Amino acid sequence: MINIKSARELDLMRYAGHINYLTHEEIKKNLKPGITTEQLDKIAYDFILKNNCVPSCLGYEGYPKSICISINDEVVHGIPSKTKIKEHDIVSIDLCVGYKGYHTDAARTYIIGKVSKEVEALVKNTEKALYQGINKVHSGCKVGDISNAIEEYAHAHNLSVIEELVGHGVGSNIHEEPDIPNYGNSGSGQVLKEGMTIAIEPMLNLGGKEICLTDQDDWVIVTKDGLPSAHFEHTILVTKDGYEILTGE
Ligand code: MF3
Ligand code: CO
Repeated sequence: MINIKSARELDLMRYAGHINYLTHEEIKKNLKPGITTEQLDKIAYDFILKNNCVPSCLGYEGYPKSICISINDEVVHGIPSKTKIKEHDIVSIDLCVGYKGYHTDAARTYIIGKVSKEVEALVKNTEKALYQGINKVHSGCKVGDISNAIEEYAHAHNLSVIEELVGHGVGSNIHEEPDIPNYGNSGSGQVLKEGMTIAIEPMLNLGGKEICLTDQDDWVIVTKDGLPSAHFEHTILVTKDGYEILTGE
C-alpha cells in the first residue's frame, strides 16, 4: 500500500526536508581537499541535532554513520572514515533527516576541482536526469513515466542506468512503497496520487551498469568496471497539478 500523507504529516516532512537541504548546504561549505569523510559526517550529525531532527541513516539496518559519502567508483552507502577528500574526486553525499517520525532523503554529487569532460558530463547529466524524472510527477501519473524519462535521458547522454538500486516511497520509514526504478516504460507501474511522497534518485554510470559490494564491508557498493558513478536525489510530494520538492530549500 502507498501511504497518503495528511496535512500534519506533510508539515513534519517539510521541516525535515528543509533541514535536509540546509545540512547539504553546510556540507557543501566544508567540502574541500584534505577534509576527511568522518569530519563531514560529524558536521552533518551536529547540524541535524542542533535543528531538533535526527540523522535517520544512523542505526538504520545497522548503518554505523549519519550520512553516506561515496567517492568516484563508489555508487552509494560509502561509510565515512579517515579517507580524505582529494582534488579530482567526485563525491556523492546522501543523507536522510527525520523530524517527529517523518523522514526525507536527498543526495548530491560534487566535483572537487577539475575532472575530465566525460566525468563532468556524468555529474551534470545525472542531475538533469533527476529533474527529467521530477518533471513527470503529478497526481495520476504512473511510476513508469518517471522511470522512462530518467532512462531515456541517461541513454541519450551515453550513461548507463543501475538496475538493482531504485528510488522509493518515503515518510514514516526511509524506504516505503512504491519502488521508483530509473528505467522502465512510460504508462506502466503504479499510479501516483496527491499526498504521496517519493524519493527519486538516478544513479548513473560512465561505464557499464554492473555494480557489486566490495570485500571491505557489507555496505559500500561500487561499479564493477571501476569507472565513476553519480547520484542525485530529492524527496518529492505529489500534488494535484505537479509536485513540491521537499528537500529543495
Ligand atoms: N538514501 C539511502 C538509500 O535510499 C540511504 C539509506 S540509509 C542507510 O538507500 F543507512 F542505508 F545508509
Ligand atoms: Co533514497
